[in-house]
Amino acid sequence: MTTNRLCNLIGIKYPIIQAPMNWITGADLAAAVSNAGGLGTIGPNAGADTVTTDVDETAERLRRQIRKVKGLTDKPFAVNFPIGIEGVEQSEGGRKFSEKCVRVGLEEGVPIAITSVGPPQVYTRLLKDAGVTVLHAVSTANQARKAEEIGVDAVVCEGYEGGGHKATTEMATMTLIPLAANAVRIPIIAAGGIADARGMLAALALGADGVYVGTRFIATHECDAHPNVKNAVVQASDVCTISVDKWMVAGRDLKSPFTDKYLELKKTGASMAELWDFISTHTMYMGLVQGDTDWGEVPCGQSAAMVGQIVSAARVIEELINELPSALEQLRNRIPAD
Ligand SMILES: Cc1cc2nc3c(=O)[nH]c(=O)nc-3n(C[C@H](O)[C@H](O)[C@H](O)COP(=O)(O)O)c2cc1C
Repeated sequence: MTTNRLCNLIGIKYPIIQAPMNWITGADLAAAVSNAGGLGTIGPNAGADTVTTDVDETAERLRRQIRKVKGLTDKPFAVNFPIGIEGVEQSEGGRKFSEKCVRVGLEEGVPIAITSVGPPQVYTRLLKDAGVTVLHAVSTANQARKAEEIGVDAVVCEGYEGGGHKATTEMATMTLIPLAANAVRIPIIAAGGIADARGMLAALALGADGVYVGTRFIATHECDAHPNVKNAVVQASDVCTISVDKWMVAGRDLKSPFTDKYLELKKTGASMAELWDFISTHTMYMGLVQGDTDWGEVPCGQSAAMVGQIVSAARVIEELINELPSALEQLRNRIPAD
């Protein structure tokens, strides 16, 4: 029996959660992570290789992925439900998608839900009443406090270093985690910039109960990202990403002609309609699934610069866990003694 309360809460061996990533975190990756002792997560558009704007089709695709993951592991797994913006009709950002997907999740007996990109009060009660453990993603300590008040079981605190869509608050992991740890009593999961045992150890030292790893898992065999994307992550170095402000959210993307052009359009005063038109014709589907890493959007965290090899998901977990003792030893050696 571990003393780690995140492991106890969700029934996993290691406090490592594979973060959901739009289009590329399907049943194969989720099952591989869960089988290796972490928590695998099915993300939006999991397993899909075509775009649909049909709500029912989106939900049925999710149902197939849930059934697939259940066939591949008997361990706990999670499903991400991006809550979405109320009243938005035209894209996966709309609430009508999450309503249908949450219903399918409940019908299929999903054990753990990770809600994100929206307020926690929308689905927490419904999920919890059905016995689902709810983790909610936040970007500030205040949001963590509110999520705790609403009744979520744990908060994922996403720092600015991380890939994908974030709040525009720019709180980095280094400050977000201790502030959130001071603010709430429920378990905290650190996200953003964690790709090796040193990062994991640092997150635990800052007060996190576990880690949430996205970018490192892009460069795994089981990830559904196009090979161009995996190679781009492996080749990335130093300042390889940039934050792209999209009104209410900011997306951290791999730097590319796409991000250059988008930021130039913003700088030169393009209208909202022009910017929207540009984004919707240079999509994540193009980047992540079709492999157009120049002109499609490729969300990616700063930690890509630390990823050197495409490996199995189990190896990522093994390295994070097996290298913890030596990372701790090195840390001890650096702590000044009297
Ligand atoms: C390619 C990509 C797609 C993402 N898509 C989602 C998503 O659909 N839902 C979500 O809640 N977060 C999404 N994120 C954010 C991750 O869940 C997670 O917070 C982030 O990857 C953690 O930081 P790291 O990339 O430094 O590990 C995405 C991140 C990436 C890199």
